[in-house]
Amino acid sequence: MKDTQATETAVTTETPKITARGVQVYYGDTHAIKDVDVDIAANTVTAFIGPSGCGKSTFLRCINRMNDTIPIARVEGDIRIDGEDIYDKRVDPVQLRAKVGMVFQKPNPFPKSIYDNVAYGPRIHGLATDKADLNNIVENALRRAALWDEAKDRLDEPGTGLSGGQQQRLCIARAVATAPEILLMDEPCSALDPIATAQIEELIDELRQNFSVVIVTHSMQQAARVSQKTAFFHLGHLVEYGETGKIFTSPEDSRTESYISGRIG
Ligand SMILES: Nc1ncnc2c1ncn2[C@@H]1O[C@H](COP(=O)(O)OP(=O)(O)OP(=O)(O)O)[C@@H](O)[C@H]1O
Ligand SMILES: [Mg+2]
Repeated sequence: MKDTQATETAVTTETPKITARGVQVYYGDTHAIKDVDVDIAANTVTAFIGPSGCGKSTFLRCINRMNDTIPIARVEGDIRIDGEDIYDKRVDPVQLRAKVGMVFQKPNPFPKSIYDNVAYGPRIHGLATDKADLNNIVENALRRAALWDEAKDRLDEPGTGLSGGQQQRLCIARAVATAPEILLMDEPCSALDPIATAQIEELIDELRQNFSVVIVTHSMQQAARVSQKTAFFHLGHLVEYGETGKIFTSPEDSRTESYISGRIG
């Protein structure tokens, strides 16, 4: 029984939101992701943890084809969302990225006003019926990202004029404004203070009601607080995947155990 357990938890029987099989990523000659198989559930927060350079961001970028934008990156294998192959030639990566939103480690607001940063996605995807509707979408997104109170009187000012932590919340508002089905977050709180971090963690929990959230974090406390499932990566391999409580209290693999107890990483 024990031998098959890791496989059984990485590949579930319930219908997953995201399935990955035999995923490899290369940057030139560097083999950054090695044969990853995983099923990611709907209405779940999944945390990716592991030492720096183990491939967390690389694997995350496979899920919305952001690696397409890196010329030397090559992705192999099969990744599906709701059973649909996202690397199929008929899939438009721009449409895919509206459905699979992303928040990066470094805030990257567009050189536009706060309002236009958030309104950008809803505008290009035609999500608002009129100006009042768009105003509502922008306000809701900013509220969900815990930025409304600070931003409401300066919506016409440039997004780049906000503080680092505010810019990150703006990027989160921009991502949620298109109502994505999946939200990928790559260390979203690394530029935030504890109060903003707590607000974002609350938002993540709320988003789970409707979406799947995949979050990369270096904070084990954060992974334990926000996620139901945790995946531990090491040197490009997905070493262990399972219930967050189990990964943190009784991991199967000695590498996971070493990492969570602070011996590697
Ligand atoms: N654009 C790139 N060009 C070349 N190599 C890259 C690129 N991005 C990542 N790599 C390499 O791929 C491997 C995995 O990197 P990745 O950024 O996915 O790790 P990570 O787990 O997110 O690390 P960190 O916790 O430091 O963010 C590393 O060896 C890294 O040097
Ligand atoms: Mg990273």
